[in-house]
Amino acid sequence: MNKKELGVVLTPPKTAEYIVSRLGNVSGNQKVLDPCVGPGIFIKALLKSGVDKAQIFCHDINSDYKATIEDLGVRFRAIDNLLSLNSESYNEYDFIVGNPPYLNKASNYVRSNRVELKKLYGNINAHETYSMFIVNSIWRLKEGGKLGFITSDSFLSLSTHTKLRNFILKNCLINEILLAPKDLFSNQNVSTSPAILILTKCSNEQLRNQNNIYVVPRIKSEEDYKNPKKVLNIQQKNYHKLPFNIFFIDVENEVIDFFDSAPRLEDFMKGYIGMHTHDNRKYVAAIEGTRLASIFRRRNEKIKDYNLKYKIIESEHLDSGNWKPYLKRGGSEQYYRPISEALDWSEAATKVYDIPNNVPFEKEGIVISGVSTRLAARYMPEGCYWDSNKAMGFITRNSSASVEFLLGLLNSSLYNYFAKGIINNTNSIQLTGVHALPFIEPDPSFMAEIEAQVHNIIKNKMLNPDYNYVKEQKLIDNLVFNYFVKYHNFPLSLKKKLDKQYSVY
Ligand SMILES: C[S@@+](CC[C@H](N)C(=O)[O-])C[C@H]1O[C@@H](n2cnc3c(N)ncnc32)[C@H](O)[C@@H]1O
Repeated sequence: MNKKELGVVLTPPKTAEYIVSRLGNVSGNQKVLDPCVGPGIFIKALLKSGVDKAQIFCHDINSDYKATIEDLGVRFRAIDNLLSLNSESYNEYDFIVGNPPYLNKASNYVRSNRVELKKLYGNINAHETYSMFIVNSIWRLKEGGKLGFITSDSFLSLSTHTKLRNFILKNCLINEILLAPKDLFSNQNVSTSPAILILTKCSNEQLRNQNNIYVVPRIKSEEDYKNPKKVLNIQQKNYHKLPFNIFFIDVENEVIDFFDSAPRLEDFMKGYIGMHTHDNRKYVAAIEGTRLASIFRRRNEKIKDYNLKYKIIESEHLDSGNWKPYLKRGGSEQYYRPISEALDWSEAATKVYDIPNNVPFEKEGIVISGVSTRLAARYMPEGCYWDSNKAMGFITRNSSASVEFLLGLLNSSLYNYFAKGIINNTNSIQLTGVHALPFIEPDPSFMAEIEAQVHNIIKNKMLNPDYNYVKEQKLIDNLVFNYFVKYHNFPLSLKKKLDKQYSVY
């Protein structure tokens, strides 16, 4: 495999030196490992800080680095650090430093070693290599030993890394999480945002629960390592409080407590993954008069073969029972969007579909975009079917929260912050993420105030899809915030943050 396929990305020396400086004192008889040494950036930083050559050990899967590393006077083994584990590999090192390769499950490396990797790391996460390097290094560390890595920051919040976070919480004191400059590796064509992670292996639960983490939100440049503009102290035990044990960075204590103590939204509305047609081009048509129909018509002008043309149907067909309204698109549109797609409901077509039988299709409810820059919830009229991840259908569970009320709540800046600022800051949100949102039952007057605004937005959007609802949205955002403040004392600084970063205006 070539260097790109092995995830070679070089750490800027200043960053390696910072990580080494955070390990504390390395005394004479202690052993330090770089498990993925590459050309030895961390080794140079260790030597510069005064660590003796004899204490330093290096691994890399690529034997080409042997000469370069041995020239530095330290020991090198050309091994696969993830797979070369034996009974002596555990509890061996006092310090482990490095920049583990970031190879995902589509990489040649993970695909060709899938079975072995799964055997070793399957219980925690065998999807990509950097998380396996974290686990492997914790195994290799002695009790009290320290780890210092620079990795992608995605393990801090993605729900796919829940088990990794649990493993770290159960085995380590988290000393430091620092969000490194976003562009640290951009000259090497790496776009993931990096984080520095410093851990101490610790089997004592009481110590772990008493631990305070030094947390540094995103810094702009390497110059900021030593004197960051903002530093937070987070109790490690608070990392058990958010859904999926998210390692949050800059979330208000009152919000954490709210997540910890409030009922989950799942108790009030339940979401379902939808169905598969196996061939949307064949079975899904655009409804005449919608924007999608115009797009299909333009595309069809270029397609000669009648059988390959995109289908467009008149909306009356929806009443005939031969077609059903279908929701399959994500996007950031809120409250209401005219239904633009129809699903072939002929006997021949439905035979082909995978339709889960525990899903209450055709009920009135809410559709939430699975892929969108913000939390986006829309009204779902009776009769709809939906696809499997870009649009998720939700049905209310009892009358204590109506559809219109929930639409207002979910589209508010506060819930956009909960969903996109805390639970998942990527473009996607899973069903489990929506279910895990905290909720408090509304009193009737609050519910009615929100419903009135939402009703107005939907009515106007039905007449004009481009209706500008900023005025109503501001009102909803204020009503929601003020209602929650009453119960949970959210600080006013949170409202400023919501207006600035999480509102639609
Ligand atoms: C991100 S680079 C880091 C290089 C260097 N330590 C630095 O920070 O500049 C990752 C290194 O991991 C090595 N590598 C990839 N898979 C490995 C494995 N399974 N075991 C050991 N090393 C591996 C690659 O050859 C590459 O040198």
